[in-house]
Amino acid sequence: MSIVIIRQDDKIELWKTAIETADPNIKVYSYLEPHDKNLVEVALVWKHPKGSLAAYSNLKYIASTGAGVDFIFEDETTPKDLPITRVVDTMLASDMSEYVLAAIFSFLKHLNGYKVDQFHKVWKPRPYYRISDFNIGIMGLGALGTVLAKDLLRFVFKPQGWSNSKKVIQGVTTYQGETEFGSFLSTSQVLVCLLPLTNKTTGILNAGIFEQLPIGAYLINAARGGHLVDQDLLDYIDNGHIAGATLDVFHQEPLPLTHPFWENEKINITPHYASVSDTDSVVPQLLENYGRMQRGESLLNLVSELKGY
Ligand code: GLV
Repeated sequence: MSIVIIRQDDKIELWKTAIETADPNIKVYSYLEPHDKNLVEVALVWKHPKGSLAAYSNLKYIASTGAGVDFIFEDETTPKDLPITRVVDTMLASDMSEYVLAAIFSFLKHLNGYKVDQFHKVWKPRPYYRISDFNIGIMGLGALGTVLAKDLLRFVFKPQGWSNSKKVIQGVTTYQGETEFGSFLSTSQVLVCLLPLTNKTTGILNAGIFEQLPIGAYLINAARGGHLVDQDLLDYIDNGHIAGATLDVFHQEPLPLTHPFWENEKINITPHYASVSDTDSVVPQLLENYGRMQRGESLLNLVSELKGY
């Protein structure tokens, strides 16, 4: 009985060692090394090559080693009817929150604009913005969005949130579903996307919603590149309706060198770094689920195939 790790970055050995160190009795393989695929019960995946899961016919479940599972559903060859789990982790959530806070403060104090000015030797104070000037609208009030909302409250921001189903968070105005989307957008001077990527949310950050934001609004997308219609953002920055954006995620990663985002002074790019699973923090929950599977107990952090997250 064994676990296979399938991912295309250089972190297979890191995860393998972390699991083996935590429990030396568990046999863990990289999908690239020789192993008996019939004995593999669990696949730990992160952006696996499409089709690679289909070779494992005795899997009991598939575990994403990140918060997102969109890449599993996007692979049409993923074995059907298998439970899928994702990571719900306090460190992942607090890292995300710190990233978004940094982006908001940077926008508020024009730090990126001043950096650009510096390169042009321009001394030109911009309008002063304060925390009290802005509502921060969070799209997605799940494990990540809720922590962000609470952290924003600690800094005396005015967070508000929008989600598919009604959420109650003390001190946070919450909006639900399509009917309340417009009211949420028209009062969000900073819009933060932390939604899962599903059929329903693909392309949700588009001209139709940018138009409803207050003029001068700022966009932060730390969810998935697939949420954003890139050209619509460029158009709304060009026409001045959107002041700028911080983007951590892209349709194609690394962002292709020819992409116009690289050259846009109002767009700040980070290399999908906002919140990345830490093995020390995440391995215990992966092993907890492995034990549950062996004991025939229900798994934690199961994903709904119907909802796609
Ligand atoms: C990161 O993007 C994650 O889904 O964990």
